[in-house]
Amino acid sequence: MTHIRKAVFPVAGMGTRFLPATKSVPKEMLPLVDRPLIQYAIDEAREAGIEEFIFVSAAGKGALEDYFDTAAALEMSLKSKGKTEALKALEPTRMPEGALTILRQGKALGLGHAVRQARRLIGDEAFAVLLPDDVIMGSKGVLAQMVEAHSQVGGHMVASMDVAREATSAYGVLDVAHQNGRVLTAHGMVEKPRPDVAPSTQAVVGRYILEASVFDRLADLGPGAGGELQLTDAINADAGKAGLSGYQFAGERFDCGSIQGFVQATAAFAMQRGDLADEFTAFIRSRQSAAKQAA
Ligand code: G1P
Repeated sequence: MTHIRKAVFPVAGMGTRFLPATKSVPKEMLPLVDRPLIQYAIDEAREAGIEEFIFVSAAGKGALEDYFDTAAALEMSLKSKGKTEALKALEPTRMPEGALTILRQGKALGLGHAVRQARRLIGDEAFAVLLPDDVIMGSKGVLAQMVEAHSQVGGHMVASMDVAREATSAYGVLDVAHQNGRVLTAHGMVEKPRPDVAPSTQAVVGRYILEASVFDRLADLGPGAGGELQLTDAINADAGKAGLSGYQFAGERFDCGSIQGFVQATAAFAMQRGDLADEFTAFIRSRQSAAKQAA
């Protein structure tokens, strides 16, 4: 049994980079192949043993809430037509009774502010945070990998990956003290540092296991990078006391908060799906050779 039972999913973002698509569809509902982004994060959390799912949401996200609700008319219609495959496709959208709680962030004050909304629901146990924009492909889910490592080391743990120094200003970055296998013990972390002052090139990817003590730091947090209440700052403030580590996960991460990352993820997932891979890969190859000939 896992020792991490609850996970927070910040889903209040407006998704302005994906306008006009996100004018009436929540960003988390944009599909990678045939599953919306949020489904990938939920599946990863389930694989890690998460039983309680907390969405920190905002106005205009109705489709996201409906997605995890029963669709009585649809299900009845599929049943009466004997469409068992289509019915089966709905299975991952089912939530056990009482497993999903949806909170409203109210104000868009940053990731730290979003996570802070979950304090009462989390109580005093360690919990996970998953940012659905970060989609990670691999044979074992990153959160499951982290839960295992966390049971050994405790403290705050963030997923981390090495990035080019020029890229540090797009991420939280760890101040690494030493490494033991995949676990990087860190003195602290800093949000979106300029490359010349970044303490390392170990960037934070959107998976966290946090001790409940982070809520005390979130409670009195002032604005940080970009004028927002940063989760990174709260973790950093608590690192000395609670401990902090980065976990160098196995898997390929796609930044689905950017159009480039989203398109790449779509291609990568299509290419590894048994029913699509051959034809889709042949299509990409033929596009490449057509482009070469045209050049
Ligand atoms: C957030 C975090 C940042 C982290 C990143 C990973 O930033 O604040 O520390 O590295 O997610 O995707 P955002 O991309 O929301 O600006």
